[in-house]
Amino acid sequence: MGATLTLFGIQAGYGGNTILHGVDLQLPAGGALTVIGPNGSGKSTLLKTVVGLLRPHAGSILLDSHDLSQADAPARARAGMAYVPQEDNVFLNLSVLDNLRLGWEFLQGRTSAVRSSVDNRIEQVLLLFPEIRPHLRKSAGLLSGGQRQMVAMASALMQTPSLLVLDEPSAGLSPKNAALMFESIARIRQTGISLLLIEQNVKLGLAAADTGLLLVAGQVRLIRPAAALARDPDLHQLYLGKS
Ligand SMILES: Nc1ncnc2c1ncn2[C@@H]1O[C@H](COP(=O)(O)OP(=O)(O)OP(=O)(O)O)[C@@H](O)[C@H]1O
Ligand SMILES: [Mg+2]
Repeated sequence: MGATLTLFGIQAGYGGNTILHGVDLQLPAGGALTVIGPNGSGKSTLLKTVVGLLRPHAGSILLDSHDLSQADAPARARAGMAYVPQEDNVFLNLSVLDNLRLGWEFLQGRTSAVRSSVDNRIEQVLLLFPEIRPHLRKSAGLLSGGQRQMVAMASALMQTPSLLVLDEPSAGLSPKNAALMFESIARIRQTGISLLLIEQNVKLGLAAADTGLLLVAGQVRLIRPAAALARDPDLHQLYLGKS
């Protein structure tokens, strides 16, 4: 099941350099929120702050009613967050199957209530990514970019997370492979998990979500129902940083 993610007044950055200047958002349980914005606007920084790779200077992060603001990344993973970075997200020398098993073993400490056997979980996850089933015994490094991205997402889902966080899942993919990726994302949504993603392809990214958030220079400039944001006449101008 999905969890509610709430951010209040998040300020974060690197060293003394503040990148996020007070970000608020709420993602309801089972919802999907897509973050769009120009290069360098702080989208990846926001996701890293959510999953605990970067400590906020100020503000709070809640998953359901649990305040995780001070929790480190492993504790947030145990609380239900799974994160797929844009790059270096699979073990290239391991088979697809071993990547999935590692995703499972990553969270040994989970309660037995959320555990089924690893093989059952692999079967459940493969239903979401039919494209990788024929390649289970191959090294992940031998797959196409799109297939590798699917392995990365499938490995993250092995943890049975309540929130899946994806940094540009379609980056570098052909239009055809990006469309396949978003078909998998639509299937993931049907499982009831909450989804927070960054997407450069505004049309695809907003079509996959129910809320859209435009981040410019580390601030939330627009947050709207995704379909309304896609039609918003201010979007283009703000996206290009002209206002
Ligand atoms: N590890 C880091 N150390 C120092 N500064 C960083 C680091 N990572 C990112 N930054 C800076 O933070 C700012 C925001 O970067 P971020 O990667 O969050 O942007 P983004 O919106 O994800 O961009 P893109 O669309 O290009 O992926 C940029 O000015 C970047 O140079
Ligand atoms: Mg980025």
